[in-house]
Amino acid sequence: MAGQRGKLDDRSSRQDGAYRAAKASGFAARAVFKLQEIDRRFHLLAPGRRVLDLGSWPGSWMQYSAQRVGESGLVVGFDLRPSELALPSWVHSRIADVMTLDCDALLAEFGHFDVVLSDMAPHTTGDRLSDQYRSEQLCERALEIARVTLRRGGHFVAKVFQGGGFPALIGSVRAAFLESKPVHAEATRAGSREQYLVGRGHRTGGSTVRLPPVEPSG
Ligand SMILES: C[S@@+](CC[C@H](N)C(=O)[O-])C[C@H]1O[C@@H](n2cnc3c(N)ncnc32)[C@H](O)[C@@H]1O
Repeated sequence: MAGQRGKLDDRSSRQDGAYRAAKASGFAARAVFKLQEIDRRFHLLAPGRRVLDLGSWPGSWMQYSAQRVGESGLVVGFDLRPSELALPSWVHSRIADVMTLDCDALLAEFGHFDVVLSDMAPHTTGDRLSDQYRSEQLCERALEIARVTLRRGGHFVAKVFQGGGFPALIGSVRAAFLESKPVHAEATRAGSREQYLVGRGHRTGGSTVRLPPVEPSG
């Protein structure tokens, strides 16, 4: 079972070099390198942008996003667990189950977002099919929230453990965004079935924006 789990998710280990590198740079988790890689490739974050981060604990994506958007931006993170980090004033870290998150209340409080991120992962059991299914449900929920809370032209990134529902998820992202791509981040452990679905240019929502060019896919 442990072997199956190792191939499905991408849990950090205190012996892991990437974990130590993240800590040495002041980030809470090695997951920061995945967002950094995706951001550099797809140009998602920029000063002043407003970011919703689903599954935000322990907080490295909130830390990285906060640096990228700066104090003129906004980062709102939700997780089942509270973040213990001292975060800048433009970061709001909340405890909530994203499956039951009230999007109307979220919009009333913060307005629309420029970027929705999800690094949500289920607590893995070792039963690969059920873990993949629950991961796909979380990804689907992240997309549902993005469709309601993103402005027109906004961007989306969501993690998923690749299983039987993966092609349908890719289709849903393609339908909602002008550009879409599944990405296996280089910072992900070798052999992991973890993928990130990236969507750029939300087709519906508020005012239209011009997208900067995306580098050729690698
Ligand atoms: C891989 S961690 C996120 C790491 C984070 N991106 C970072 O950089 O520190 C996945 C997180 O998803 C959260 N999660 C899973 N299901 C959730 C749900 N239904 N609602 C909120 N958070 C959830 C877990 O609690 C866990 O903290």
